[in-house]
Amino acid sequence: MDKLVITGGVPLSGEVTISGAKNAALPILASTLLYRGTSVFSNIPKMGDIATIKKLLIWLGASIEERSDQTAVEFKKINRQDAPYEMVKTMRASILVLGPLLARCGEARVSLPGGCAIGARPVNLTLSALERMGAEVKIVQGYIQAKVKKLKGAKIVFDTPTVTGTENVMMAATLAEGTTLLENAACEPEITDLARCLSLAGASIQGAGTETMTIQGVRELHGVDYSVMPDRIEAGTFMIAGAITGGDIFIRKGKSRDLKAVTYKLQEAGVEIEEEKEGLCVKAKKGIQSVDVKTAPFPGFPTDLQAQMAALMTLARGFSIVTETIFENRFNHVAELVRMGADIRINGNQEVIRGVSRLSGAQVMASDLRGSASLVLAGLAAEGETQVSRIYHLDRGYEKMEEKFSRLGAKMMRTRGAL
Ligand code: EPU
Repeated sequence: MDKLVITGGVPLSGEVTISGAKNAALPILASTLLYRGTSVFSNIPKMGDIATIKKLLIWLGASIEERSDQTAVEFKKINRQDAPYEMVKTMRASILVLGPLLARCGEARVSLPGGCAIGARPVNLTLSALERMGAEVKIVQGYIQAKVKKLKGAKIVFDTPTVTGTENVMMAATLAEGTTLLENAACEPEITDLARCLSLAGASIQGAGTETMTIQGVRELHGVDYSVMPDRIEAGTFMIAGAITGGDIFIRKGKSRDLKAVTYKLQEAGVEIEEEKEGLCVKAKKGIQSVDVKTAPFPGFPTDLQAQMAALMTLARGFSIVTETIFENRFNHVAELVRMGADIRINGNQEVIRGVSRLSGAQVMASDLRGSASLVLAGLAAEGETQVSRIYHLDRGYEKMEEKFSRLGAKMMRTRGAL
């Protein structure tokens, strides 16, 4: 199994270019189930989760052609309406085919994703929204079975904003009869990116990126030519990497508009961040100030950067409290950071972190994507060698991570090794 071997202590310097956003590319690729004709996408990142959704789309009948930096996708015919357990279990976002399949074929059978390392992650809100739109939804032997003659527009109010739930309902509503009004929708930039793509395909969507969305169903959608937005979580990870190493880096395609809360918190901690036309300049000195952080739906501090920020706080001056409000079990990284010398206590949904003057390299592993990223960041700042194992988690959601860090001067190498 591959490992990352990192020798810490090098301040990062130079430039890094952010890849396409995983969490925008996933629903955008799923949306091709709705289109007649070929779509050509650019900026689709090359990583594990994207390979998984492509595999699922091919299973459902897509032909996918890679053309240098572009990906062409076409469904001449949808051959199957089922997403099997084997595919869904490795990636929860496979649930994103549910809405499109139901809208296009009138039926879908998608394995329930089940829980994962960061929490239970229910999909009840998506299912009840589809029921409101006229679908008959049953759970049979671990599968969601949904059927409908024709989806009908409806008024839907989510109990809590859900990102993939909003995306599923939005996609289903584009081909429904009549108008769908979605209240308490999630506002993440990836939702706006999907809405932009659907609108280019002929959909009628208002209010994407706000809590109230209106989708007017249309008869059909056509293929698009679309470039996926840059990955704000990758950009945020590099911002924190710059900060934790006392570095000076330029993050090409980083946008503070998508990372307002992160920019604000890092500035409060003493990191210099300047926005330029092409990206973000991040400059930091060693010994930053501790800050408290609380995750929240967009535009709040993203849960997908909580673990990385916690790694930074382990080396800050003073105490900080990091509160996770989105997922109930997103503290996989904590025990491993403690093995590197961090002083962290978990209290309910909070990490109470007392900054220490140094971390020391160790053999560590995490059991989720962002937790693994936080260990890489800690390794970059630690004294000596850190070995991060189980990096298939990182490979699911970061493109060429070690190459990008190495170009910034980090001493990082991928090796094959035993568990
Ligand atoms: N929730 C419900 N019922 C539902 C759906 C969600 O109670 O039916 C709750 C969840 O338990 C959670 C909250 O709502 O407390 C938000 O969950 P959400 O549904 O928004 O999460 P998601 O759509 O499954 C996406 C991202 C995650 C990211 C979250 C939050 C994709 C493919 N995944 O997940 O990304 O953490 O939104 O922003 O877009 C990652 O990239 O590492 C990742 C986990």
